[in-house]
Amino acid sequence: MTVDNELYNRMSETWWDEKGFLNNLLAYNPVRFGYFRKVLFDKLKIEPNGGRALDIGCGGGILAEEFARVGYKVTGIDPSEPSLEEARKHAKEVGLDIEYKVGIGEDIPFDNENFDMVYTCDVLEHVTNLEKVIRETARVLKSDGIYMYDTFNRTFLSKLIMIKLLQEWSWTSFMPGNVHDWDMFIKPRELLELLGRYGFKNQEQVGIKPGVNPLKIIQTLRKRKRGEISYFEVVQRMKFRESGDKSMAYTGYALKKFSGEN
Ligand SMILES: C[S@@+](CC[C@H](N)C(=O)[O-])C[C@H]1O[C@@H](n2cnc3c(N)ncnc32)[C@H](O)[C@@H]1O
Repeated sequence: MTVDNELYNRMSETWWDEKGFLNNLLAYNPVRFGYFRKVLFDKLKIEPNGGRALDIGCGGGILAEEFARVGYKVTGIDPSEPSLEEARKHAKEVGLDIEYKVGIGEDIPFDNENFDMVYTCDVLEHVTNLEKVIRETARVLKSDGIYMYDTFNRTFLSKLIMIKLLQEWSWTSFMPGNVHDWDMFIKPRELLELLGRYGFKNQEQVGIKPGVNPLKIIQTLRKRKRGEISYFEVVQRMKFRESGDKSMAYTGYALKKFSGEN
């Protein structure tokens, strides 16, 4: 099986459609953006003040808009032109000034040391060449710049939940087949190793897990199956939250440092 990245072209109109499939990611924002806010404002005491942020794999701009609202000058890149069209349209509707450009993480269309902050959210498990993406991220980030990410771990649990339950088993699945390929999921230590290789000092990794029990998860998926709730509501009802357990998904951040620096 390979991951179906074409679906971001086919389903681009669903990013901001509250009944649409890709809109489910909007319900994931509280946990992931909640974590990033804490990192930026509580831990690192950053004041964005128009500093430049690059969203690699921005899709319809669901997360780009959050970073623009807290004061970053955000640029989003993505291979899916139809998704970028939706992102541009929505940013205009809500009055946000965000630049969207076609591009892939393996070959970022910007000069060296251009951005104060770069992030990849729910993207690393979709790319063709993970190592190139990390190398390119390091290249376009300024020294001392911040890199933030979230992705899925490659474990028995993530196979059970993300692949079997959400994607393959017809009585519970709510995702189209091949949204994810379990073989492309990334173990936390594999990412740490790559980050270290390209001059990053990782600062933290934190697990993300559903905040409800397995029975509630199944009930929620069955409600979606019967068309009683939207895709957004499915993810919202999972109540994702930070956890010490990284066995399903995790988030984290790293700083770009030259070796020898702390
Ligand atoms: C699950 S979506 C995440 C979208 C967005 N980051 C968010 O969280 O709302 C994955 C995105 O990665 C994009 N993508 C796929 N391959 C990519 C690559 N090689 N470089 C950058 N983005 C890629 C897809 O087009 C899609 O928009």
